[in-house]
Amino acid sequence: MKVLVFDNYDEASAQAAQLVEAQVLENAQSVLGLATGSTPIGLYKNLIEGVKTRGVSYKNVSTINLDEYIGLPTDHSESYHTFMAENLFNHIDIAIDNTYVPNGMAVSPEEECVRYEEIIDRVGPIDLQILGIGTNGHIGFNEPGTDPESLTHVVELVASTRESNARFFPSIDDVPTHAVTTGIKSILKSKKIILIASGASKAEAVKQLLSKEISQDFPASYLWNHDDVTLIVDQDAYSLV
Ligand code: PGA
Repeated sequence: MKVLVFDNYDEASAQAAQLVEAQVLENAQSVLGLATGSTPIGLYKNLIEGVKTRGVSYKNVSTINLDEYIGLPTDHSESYHTFMAENLFNHIDIAIDNTYVPNGMAVSPEEECVRYEEIIDRVGPIDLQILGIGTNGHIGFNEPGTDPESLTHVVELVASTRESNARFFPSIDDVPTHAVTTGIKSILKSKKIILIASGASKAEAVKQLLSKEISQDFPASYLWNHDDVTLIVDQDAYSLV
């Protein structure tokens, strides 16, 4: 794992964007694995800027998102479909048919998981996967205890994840209880992985990750089993290392 430490979130986001743009410039048909949450917003702002000012094009790029809540319609304000549209897709020249996010409204979520893993294999392999990290070490919605061999699956969100995401909903009761997430094994199929961690709230998780102890209790630790991972971190998140 390569570790790049930056003074602040803006610099970390700019560096992540530079790596994504380098990937797209190298291969205009790149497949990007994308994440939601607060962390990648700065990266996405930089990518939008890159389209406007640096002439980067996503016309032939495909994207595969990590996860989606079960039970939120695609156009719900807090669905990850909406998040991606508002924070990235609506502002770049990507073909929306080339963007993939799990369908949280599928009649059979289990069948949706099978369909989605097939997309990862058919459209992919993902050239570059972007990840955030939960305070508990989750990646995607792979909570502690997730099988390292997991493919796309249905998860029940743990209390800490629902509490942390409650800030986006009227109340915690409105936060969905389940999600479809790509699994640890699905994520590790990616050719390259960038994990971004920012802010003091992630300092414990970054310290745990960099202890190099691989454990089912800390899903991000499985990234040590991949040979091309870059951790992009700001000083606050690196402060306990
Ligand atoms: P955050 O979430 O980017 O909103 O901190 C990251 C995660 O939970 O994976």
